[in-house]
Amino acid sequence: MSANTNKVWRGRFSGESAQEVDVFNSSISFDYVLFEEDIAGSIAHAKMLGQQKIISSEDTQKIVEGLETILKDLKSGQLLFDEQAEDIHMFIEAELTNRIGDAGKRLHTGRSRNDQVALDLRLYVKKQIAEIKAKLIQFEQVIIQQAEQHLNTVMPGYTHLQIAQPITFAHQILAYAQMIARDIKRLDEASEHTDSMPLGNGALAGTTYPLDRQFVAEQLGFKEVTANSLDGVSDRDFVLDTAYALSMVMMHLSRLSEEIILWCTQEFHFVELDDAFATGSSIMPQKKNPDVAELVRGKTGRAYGNLQTLLTMMKGIPLAYNKDMQEDKEALFDSIRTVDIALSAMIPMVKTMQVNRERMRTAASKGFINATDCADYLTKKGVPFREAYEVIGSLVQACIEKNQTLEDVSLEIYQTLHPVFEADIYEAIDLDECVIKRSIEGGPAPEAVKKQISRLKNQIDL
Ligand code: ARG
Repeated sequence: MSANTNKVWRGRFSGESAQEVDVFNSSISFDYVLFEEDIAGSIAHAKMLGQQKIISSEDTQKIVEGLETILKDLKSGQLLFDEQAEDIHMFIEAELTNRIGDAGKRLHTGRSRNDQVALDLRLYVKKQIAEIKAKLIQFEQVIIQQAEQHLNTVMPGYTHLQIAQPITFAHQILAYAQMIARDIKRLDEASEHTDSMPLGNGALAGTTYPLDRQFVAEQLGFKEVTANSLDGVSDRDFVLDTAYALSMVMMHLSRLSEEIILWCTQEFHFVELDDAFATGSSIMPQKKNPDVAELVRGKTGRAYGNLQTLLTMMKGIPLAYNKDMQEDKEALFDSIRTVDIALSAMIPMVKTMQVNRERMRTAASKGFINATDCADYLTKKGVPFREAYEVIGSLVQACIEKNQTLEDVSLEIYQTLHPVFEADIYEAIDLDECVIKRSIEGGPAPEAVKKQISRLKNQIDL
């Protein structure tokens, strides 16, 4: 049994809480990361209490100074988190009272841990989103750099993982830049939903003190204050929006990882990872494994799991705060950490990845990648597309039997298939031509890809 003597709510109880309950109930082992936000929130609250003459200016000063030294000591490691504390909020308040005495006991006037934790979490989420956004922008820049090197690097485009039509490596990799650009927008939106200040909601029903909520919002950089006290303490939509946006980031990183893993195989050998971003085998001396990409793919499950945890945690909670909501933190923090470390490893891996132009080109010259262009040639000469498709379909079949490509077929044979064939067919099915002619907006032709790049650069203000 542990003592209740150090608990602020001990007055109501005659018995002591079980040690197992203390351990089960405590969140400081994970919510300690909120210490900077907790202190910033308390400083703003104390200043407002002083300004509104709810507490004296001397007490305000003591509280602010006390909190500032606690922050300094926590950052320097001079003050350690007390594992016995119920949570980060109780820990900091107790430490403050230890240091400055009675003034510390006035800090929580007009406030509840319910609006306090909502505030801390919102401040934390806003900061973390900004950091992840900065990394996503860096990733976009790295992708753009790779694309600029490979505007003319022809490679096969796939559907069903079967060779489909020729594209360039620039075009392929920029598809991921587009995904990342949307991820950034999603995170912006999550940040916007987070940008509402909950202090003043109290435990659930607001407060009778004349708090100046706008002042606190301004001090802490929020664009508005929450509109309903019940919702304000129990809204975790912003956590879910963030967890969803982060799941999408992981899904995109995972798709790219899967491609990189394939491209690293002997069979593809489209890319070569820098030694710094590959690992060896304990038994097979020839191995160079794309572990980073595999781990990113593997860790994606965490983000999805966290999203599911949060959705399920919230679905049955009656208004307003319930302790279930303490469970929001580990899931959210894990998603943030996962995306952060995944990006940190992937950005330099993609930056240093060597692209094997010859292998890509060789792969693109197989698999009748220009069959569509061959059919289009006929169509442009007036043959209905379905008829053209059929002619080329049987030509491909014949070529497979003879182990030939469309380039190997003689003009005489072409003309027996259809009289409109002329010598310019060879230009029409030339690999580079097939790419260059796809100059439609959004297409793989170098000219179109350059436009795509400048559009992306404009978006991220490069
Ligand atoms: N540690 C709690 C949490 O993370 C803080 C809020 C506690 N509020 C309460 N009424 N018990 O949600």
